[in-house]
Amino acid sequence: MSFSFSNSAIEELKDRVNIVDVIGRVVPLKRSGSNYKGVCPFHSEKTPSFVVSEQKQIFTCFGCGASGDMIEFVKRYYNLDFTEAVEKIAGEYGIVLEKRQSDGRREKYYEVNRLAARFFYRAFTEKANPGYSYMKKRGITPAVLKKFGIGYADSEWTSLVDYMNSQGIENRTLIELGLAAESRGRVYDKFRNRVMFPIINTSGKVIGFGGRAVSSQDNPKYLNSPESLVFRKKNNLYGLNISRQNVGKDGFIILVEGYMDVIALYQGGVHNVAASLGTALTENQAALIKRYTDSAVLSYDADSAGRNAALRGMDILKKENLKVRVLHVTDGKDPDEFIKKNGKEAFLKLVEEALPYGDYKLEAAKSGIDMSSGEGRIDYIRRAAGIIASMSPVERDIYIAKAAKEAGVSESAVRMEIMPESEGASPGDIHSHRLRRSDDESDTENPHVIIGRDRDLLTLSVRSEKYIDTISTMPDIFALDVSRKIFDVIEKDFRENGNLDINRVLDTLPDEERELLTEACESTPYYEDEEKVLADCMRDWKLSSLADEEERILTMLSLADETGNDDKLSSLMERLKNIQLEIQAERNLG
Ligand code: UTP
Ligand code: MN
Repeated sequence: MSFSFSNSAIEELKDRVNIVDVIGRVVPLKRSGSNYKGVCPFHSEKTPSFVVSEQKQIFTCFGCGASGDMIEFVKRYYNLDFTEAVEKIAGEYGIVLEKRQSDGRREKYYEVNRLAARFFYRAFTEKANPGYSYMKKRGITPAVLKKFGIGYADSEWTSLVDYMNSQGIENRTLIELGLAAESRGRVYDKFRNRVMFPIINTSGKVIGFGGRAVSSQDNPKYLNSPESLVFRKKNNLYGLNISRQNVGKDGFIILVEGYMDVIALYQGGVHNVAASLGTALTENQAALIKRYTDSAVLSYDADSAGRNAALRGMDILKKENLKVRVLHVTDGKDPDEFIKKNGKEAFLKLVEEALPYGDYKLEAAKSGIDMSSGEGRIDYIRRAAGIIASMSPVERDIYIAKAAKEAGVSESAVRMEIMPESEGASPGDIHSHRLRRSDDESDTENPHVIIGRDRDLLTLSVRSEKYIDTISTMPDIFALDVSRKIFDVIEKDFRENGNLDINRVLDTLPDEERELLTEACESTPYYEDEEKVLADCMRDWKLSSLADEEERILTMLSLADETGNDDKLSSLMERLKNIQLEIQAERNLG
């Protein structure tokens, strides 16, 4: 029973489904560095010691020792056997897995592709041919040609078909793999007079080919294998079979557009590189990348197609939680030309200077806009706001400042464009936007009633003026900006007159705030123990700022560059641990 799926079917499942998603459906997970953390479902615990590694696609519990891959998780969690677990995952992700009967077909296709790759390789290396001359002219060394298994499909019509037939491979298989085609009862080679780039997946199987025309007269420039049982463009990246170790080591991947870019960069000494297969980046490719790294640098052609592809590609990668930066070569049309002319160091410098997601997007937002006109700048801010809205809190702060500077407007203006009803803005910002918008929309900004610790603090200061001094030493204790403003008026009255007169305060307050204060005081019951009320407010404040801080550190951890930044990372982890301990201690007190 447990053998009813082939190894390649299991491999395919694990390739296409992310363990973080599988486990995340049933265990709340929080990102923690390159891993995810949660409370272990297999033993009882309060502090999370259950870790899911996206890179390794495994889970481990440091508390109870449970560990394994996604199938193991599903087996244990739902108490299923292996086959049932595989079926459950495949079913939930809409993946049709081959059962044993057809399993042979897949293995056979891999084998036929491998035979074809060897056939093309021999034609490329054993005697002079236009393919080899072409690649030599382009400056690729024999060692690199060999590394990538580059071959040549000659210009005859049936070289490959004849060879395959002699090996007992039927035409049907060749046609399904796109190696041959049929016309008027004749079967002929699809790839003719082309340099052949075998496309090899990360398990080392030849899944398809790209064939480059040697003659500039031949169209298309590149002919690629069609989608087949073993070739899904959207699930693979060219060159990743060779580069993945380096991607892990370097801590990021460089994504390029073309086969030749991969090869030229590789030859130039840049080994952490792969190319999408002539299509826009897909989510599956992003998921594949995440196996090896959480950081990508897009190095697409400098033309407008390349720029548009970069913009789209960034969003896909970003959506899959990859850190992403973009560069365009400054000399030549693509990375291939650039590195040949300028060398490795120059290319690495471009990589170093690649623009982060936000900067690239903001830069692109300027396109077609006249930044010297008021209207142009308004358009720009609108576009920028759309971009910034999807960012994490920390990134937002950074890019709000940048966009504001770029357009010569205040940060609070940008902030308001992003989140008109925000509670997330800092007090200063809310003040300034209130000023700007008080005539039309100010009523939408304040709550209808003040509740929680703000209500208690305001009521306390009105009922017993001795608390005003204490509260005034904690300017940030109020959760809402409006409560803080009301308290300022209370404090001012108290200081100016030496005592508090609530009627004077109510007279001073604007209508809306007067309502809020009256409502707050009236709705608050008599306090038996005012000291305890104040203490509770302070504890509540402390807890919520600790929670904010925890959130901030988690965000920073998810943004932190994990390579070469170990110090920063471990100091963040240390802070996180301390904060969590403090929160725990605070909770235990309450
Ligand atoms: P490029 O035209 O930039 O290819 O297309 P390149 O790799 O730089 O090739 P050279 O340097 O001109 O030889 C980028 C990628 O788009 C796909 C291929 O994957 C190519 O590597 N493509 C391009 C096709 O699939 N078909 C085409 O006709 C052209
Ligand atoms: Mn090129």
